[in-house]
Amino acid sequence: MAEALVLALRDLDGISPTVEERLHDAGIESVLELAAALPEEVAQVLGVSKERAYELIYSAQTALMDSGLLDKSFLSALDALERRKNLLKCTTGSKSLDALLRGGVETQAITELWGEYGSGKTQLCHTLCVTCQLSRKDGGFEGNGLYIDTESTFRPERLYQIAEARGVDPTMVLKNTFVCRVYNSSHLEFIVKNVGKYIEKYNVRLLIVDSVISLYRGEFTGRETLAERQQRLNKLLHRLLRIAEIYNVAVVLTNQVQSQPDMFFGDPNKPSGGHVMAHSCTYRIYLKKIGQDRKAIIVDSPYHPYSEATFSITDKGVVDIEDKRRGG
Ligand SMILES: Nc1ncnc2c1ncn2[C@@H]1O[C@H](COP(=O)(O)OP(=O)(O)OP(=O)(O)O)[C@@H](O)[C@H]1O
Ligand SMILES: [Mg+2]
Repeated sequence: MAEALVLALRDLDGISPTVEERLHDAGIESVLELAAALPEEVAQVLGVSKERAYELIYSAQTALMDSGLLDKSFLSALDALERRKNLLKCTTGSKSLDALLRGGVETQAITELWGEYGSGKTQLCHTLCVTCQLSRKDGGFEGNGLYIDTESTFRPERLYQIAEARGVDPTMVLKNTFVCRVYNSSHLEFIVKNVGKYIEKYNVRLLIVDSVISLYRGEFTGRETLAERQQRLNKLLHRLLRIAEIYNVAVVLTNQVQSQPDMFFGDPNKPSGGHVMAHSCTYRIYLKKIGQDRKAIIVDSPYHPYSEATFSITDKGVVDIEDKRRGG
């Protein structure tokens, strides 16, 4: 996976230091990222034809295949299963929620948390920033969290509290959690474009965007802007999925609800972002408040059946309801 970065872009034919610099400016940091880039994007960045961009992408793919860092185009299902063994799972802090996710939040995937205000999305993200640093045997990633905060709801004090309550060194947790406050959708796109180099530098295994949709919803009001909003969101989500796969990172996104006031029966809430969100997220978890506790429902997963779990929020962050009763 990330070992592919030992091959530098400038080692490829036709990539001069200037071309390399331009690719870096566009967020294409490694041969692996060039191999997975879109020809239109490369053509635009370098000011070359689409055919020339294809050639460069192809030479990146060939270099990776020759060095054994990229699988040949077809692999058997057995090899695919082997590759998925590289994926890691991180505990959410609640056994019941982990069971719902079949072990926890996964690398090489996008997990979407959607639900109403106060349903626990941000709390779960904070808890994951602590649990991801745990050792593998304690259910963690042995890696760090990178938190992209669009709503100014990241609280280092809360992270400190969760770590302390869980018996983890809070100063270490804070030192190894990297936060970026973003102010508008272009800023978010810029950060995501360049996030590859920080993932390597900071040993990141968990990438959070809380929330992925709020800036777009705020900036693109009115029906006439909907198509552009969806296009931009689609591009962002594709990039995030590519990052998850290339760097073996878990991407966790929060999403808001859109209420359907004309619905008289059933739950009037649905996730924002329409088909674009639905198609791009690997796992979609609906969080709901039930009294003092929370319910999580998994829908549309490639391999999880429809199922539900309950959990609670305490000083320890996300916990099982029984833990809360025991005073945990
Ligand atoms: N220390 C704590 N102990 C217990 N519960 C807490 C604690 N801190 C926060 N909470 C609970 O978490 C809720 C806030 O949840 P959270 O911020 O995760 O919501 P959200 O789903 O991110 O909402 P929004 O859509 O507004 O961002 C609070 O209403 C409270 O019930
Ligand atoms: Mg929130």
